[in-house]
This record gives sequence, structure tokens and C-alpha cells, in this order.
Amino acid sequence: MTVHTNAGLFVILRILLFVAAAAGAVSGTWINLGLREFQQLKTAQSMHAYDVSASTICVGLKGLSQGQGKLCQLSVDHMPSVANGAKYGVTECQHQFKHRRWNCSIVEDESVFGPIFRIASRENAFVHAVTAAGVVYSISRSCRDGQLSSCGCSRSNRPSDLNDDWIWGGCGDNLEYGYKFTRSFVDVRERERSYKRGSREQGKSLMNLHNNEAGRRAVIKRSKVTCKCHGVSGSCSLITCWQQLVSFREIGDYLLDKYDGATEVRVNRRGRLSIRDPRFTVPTANDLIYLDDSPSYCLQNKTIGSPGTQGRLCNRTSSGMDGCNLLCCGRGYNTQKSTIKERCECKFHWCCFVECKTCTKNIDIHTCK
Ligand SMILES: *[C@@H]1O[C@H](CO)[C@@H](O)[C@H](O)[C@H]1NC(C)=O
Ligand SMILES: *[C@@H]1O[C@H](CO)[C@@H](O)[C@H](O)[C@H]1NC(C)=O
Ligand SMILES: *[C@@H]1O[C@H](CO)[C@@H](O)[C@H](O)[C@H]1NC(C)=O
Repeated sequence: MTVHTNAGLFVILRILLFVAAAAGAVSGTWINLGLREFQQLKTAQSMHAYDVSASTICVGLKGLSQGQGKLCQLSVDHMPSVANGAKYGVTECQHQFKHRRWNCSIVEDESVFGPIFRIASRENAFVHAVTAAGVVYSISRSCRDGQLSSCGCSRSNRPSDLNDDWIWGGCGDNLEYGYKFTRSFVDVRERERSYKRGSREQGKSLMNLHNNEAGRRAVIKRSKVTCKCHGVSGSCSLITCWQQLVSFREIGDYLLDKYDGATEVRVNRRGRLSIRDPRFTVPTANDLIYLDDSPSYCLQNKTIGSPGTQGRLCNRTSSGMDGCNLLCCGRGYNTQKSTIKERCECKFHWCCFVECKTCTKNIDIHTCK
């Protein structure tokens, strides 16, 4: 056991406090798991070590829907992986959007993104996809690593185009299990309530389900067959291959492409989604869809939950989204002088070290008005 007892008890106390606080809950999201203390409970073993029952743990997790709470109790050992997956998703979102007007900023409560996510925007679509992808990723890997009781290495079929002499085996990331678990856990919240057919709420729910699926598929589409040589001194007399996840960054890049090409849809009276502009092609299950146009994200607006871009760092010479012109929405920018220290005049000495001086450099920092 690697967890310190004090830290563990502290976590349990926090969880119990959460139980008390959960009464007046605002609408939260499971993504909250990725941002809070729950990550400290690293493995199922450490939970058992403190003899905390699954229901105590699950009730204490803020942001889960009813169905997700039940799934939590059934597979409490999966929750640290779910939390990790949520964290992958949020971190990746912040990376992909760091130079944009909306930078995937989060708020203090369990709604994670705040009221801005009542808008069924493109950004909302991206977040649903990237967080679902995060869970597929994390669960698939946990299975492979033997951290979950109900799954192990991948048992996917041998790809038909694999060289006949190569062995299909090894211990691959279990994408099949990751996909299935994520589908039940993430999607259950959309299936718990029934909405009036053709209503905006029903449309949003269909949109979320679609984007969750696109995120899960992104992980599978990007995964690769990886092979390794065995044999004396690299003779490569034996080659084994297995299914392997790519870096989560590659999945984020892929989903950002999908974000850029997202399709606007609407819900019709029969309760089906249809594309808003018939000139565009019908999106596939791999594409992102959205119902509402995005706000400009330029000005702070508490009603919709937009933080605005005032005070954001911008690049004076860039003509891209991070340039002061676009990021500050034409409001102009302030310039501040600042000095930074950096290594300079580095010399390589034989053998083997590098010696550098420290130089100070004056730079201008620009922030949006
Ligand atoms: C905030 O946004 C809403 C919806 O776009 C708009 O009606 C409202 O006037 C805005 N409020 C402020 C203070 O700009
Ligand atoms: C995102 O923008 C907000 C202001 O809108 C800023 O406070 C925050 O530091 C930014 N976050 C990141 C990750 O850049
Ligand atoms: C600002 O943008 C220019 C042009 O795109 C780029 O060459 C430069 O590295 C950027 N500066 C910073 C500090 O990111």
C-alpha cells in the first residue's frame, strides 16, 4: 500500500463533507471527477484498505447523474480511470484552445464550464467529444495495465492485412472494453430523462449523444497496430504485434479538425436531427454537430457565463487567432515592459558539459483592453 494514512483519511473526510454539501446541487457534470480530490484515491485496493463502501464513495462524487451514480457503485474501481479520462479531456481542451477567445476555462463548481455550456455550441460539441475520448483512452489503458477487475489485455481480432509471419498477441490496449464502458457511463445521463419530442432539450440530448460517440470513435480510429522485434541481438526472428493507443495529443488534434468542420443541425418535430443548411453534407458518426451558434466570447457576460478576453495575453505580430487584433476583438491592447532571464552564449566544453551565461532581455507583453 502506497497511500499515506493521513492523506487517505483526509480524502475520506472530504468525501463525507461532500455528501453533506451535495443536497443543494446545481446541475453538474461527471467531468468534475477529473478536477477534484477523487484522483487521490488511486486504486481500488486503496479504497478497500480504508474499508470505504462503494456507495459512500459514489454518493460523495459531485456531478454524477443518477445512472452514473449506480454505475459507479457497480464498478467503483473504474472511477479513478474515469477521473483521469476527464482530466485528459479538459487538459487537452485547454491546450487546443489556448489561443482562442474561448480558452476552455473552467469555473469553481461542479458544472465545470459554467453557464456557457447551456449553449449547445461547437465548443460544447468539442468538450463532449474530447472528454468521452479521454475516458475510452484511460479505461483501455487501465485494462491493459491490469488495474481493473473486469478487463485485461485487448482480445481484438487479428487485422487481416498483418504479415502472416507475425504473431498477433502481446498485451494491447483494450479499446473494445474502453468503448463499451464509456458508452454506458457517459451516455447514461442522456437516457435518464425523457424529453418532449422535437423540443430543444431533446435536440441537445441527441447532440450530446452524437458528439460523445464521435469522441469515442476518434480514439479507435487513431489507434495503431504496434509491433516489436524479438530474438538474439536484434535478429528479429520473432515479431509480435498488438493494438496500441496513440498519444492523446494526436486524438486532440484530430478532434480539433472535427471541431473546425462541425455541422450545424436542428431538431425537427419528429424528434430527429437534420442539417440546417441542405447544401452541406450529412455528418457521419465521426463528425461533430451543434445546434446553436457560438457567442462571440469577446465581452464578459455573466448571464451567459462568458469571461470575455479582457486581460488575455496576445501576440502583436500574429495575424492568427492569438494576434491582438482578433483576440481582443478590435478593442486594442495594453503594452507592458518586462525583463526575462535566459541562458545565452552557451559554450560546449570537451568533454562533456555546456556552460552558459545568463542574459536579461527586455520584452513587451501585450494584453487585451
Ligand atoms: C449577455 O448576453 C445576452 C445573450 O446574448 C444578452 O441578451 C445580454 O444583453 C448580454 N449582457 C450583457 C451585460 O452584455
Ligand atoms: C483563459 O482565459 C482566462 C480569461 O478569460 C484567463 O483568466 C485564464 O488564465 C486563461 N486560461 C488559460 C489556460 O490560458
Ligand atoms: C507571435 O507571432 C509571430 C507570427 O506568427 C511568431 O513568429 C512569434 O513567435 C509569436 N510570438 C510569441 C511570443 O508567441
